[in-house]
Amino acid sequence: MTSGFIQRHLLGTRTLSAAEILDLLDRADRYVAVNRSPEKKLSVLAGRTVINLFYENSTRTRTSFELAAKRLSADVVNMQTGASSVAKGETLIDTAATLNAMHPDVLVVRHHDSGAVSLLSQKVNCAVVNAGDGWHEHPTQALLDALTIRRRKGKLAGLKVAICGDVLHSRVARSNIHLLTTMGAEVRLVAPRTLCIPGAESMGVSVFHDMAAGISGCDIVMMLRIQNERMSGGYIPSTREYFRHFGLDRERLAAAKPDALVMHPGPMNRGVEIDSDIADDVDRSVIREQVEMGVAVRMAVLESVTRNLARENGEPWGDEK
Ligand code: CP
Repeated sequence: MTSGFIQRHLLGTRTLSAAEILDLLDRADRYVAVNRSPEKKLSVLAGRTVINLFYENSTRTRTSFELAAKRLSADVVNMQTGASSVAKGETLIDTAATLNAMHPDVLVVRHHDSGAVSLLSQKVNCAVVNAGDGWHEHPTQALLDALTIRRRKGKLAGLKVAICGDVLHSRVARSNIHLLTTMGAEVRLVAPRTLCIPGAESMGVSVFHDMAAGISGCDIVMMLRIQNERMSGGYIPSTREYFRHFGLDRERLAAAKPDALVMHPGPMNRGVEIDSDIADDVDRSVIREQVEMGVAVRMAVLESVTRNLARENGEPWGDEK
């Protein structure tokens, strides 16, 4: 299938076509049923090696990549950078070259610098998956968000999606903007002026600085975490003030469509960007479902990049053997 996802690396959603996105979502959708069955082990990646190299903390992404690889029968190595030679000053590129010499099939990388994962991908022979780089991209988060939305709403095209909060520092927002606009959704950014992307309109979105106006009539309200670790100055007056103007509670959610779904990539700052009453309301919040879809999406991505690498190297894959 030439119109599907045939790239060796998954570095972002900006360069993905609608056909590539659909290919990954359809493949992930099939893995959801596997993950819900008692027997979850498939032999798709038997004999393959996946290394998770995380320079930043993670619960959801790192665990779900590990689970995804194990469910496909790959051998998985989790690099704890704090307990590795990274702590002795080894550079990202030297670390990548060292791991590459051990012949992994896939490197899954999270790094605090935007562009670091793309740079690394140019220095290795294996496939590379971006698990989040700085403010830049978090492609598997956007794919799992899209899968969650598509399974609930039956489509992506034509939906009104409000991405709300600390958009400026958010790689989740950027990957979602690229993916959702490619798929024909109407994307709105709702943020304080200090936390919006300058010139965001050029990305094909509309911008609001008032929460009620921004989420009015929306099908999806996607809340973002206030990313204190990426802020060096006073972007918001106080968390209490922030919640008063940009936090999501039941009263504010009433401006969206009556069947609007609430999303959050996690981890949440309860009472800062989202009220617990909404976050834990299973009739409105799909936050736990997003986590579930993360495993299926990462299975689809690991399978796809490994298959694409094998084909690039002229090796038979699956039924081709
Ligand atoms: N959404 C997300 O990336 O969560 P983690 O930081 O826990 O991986």
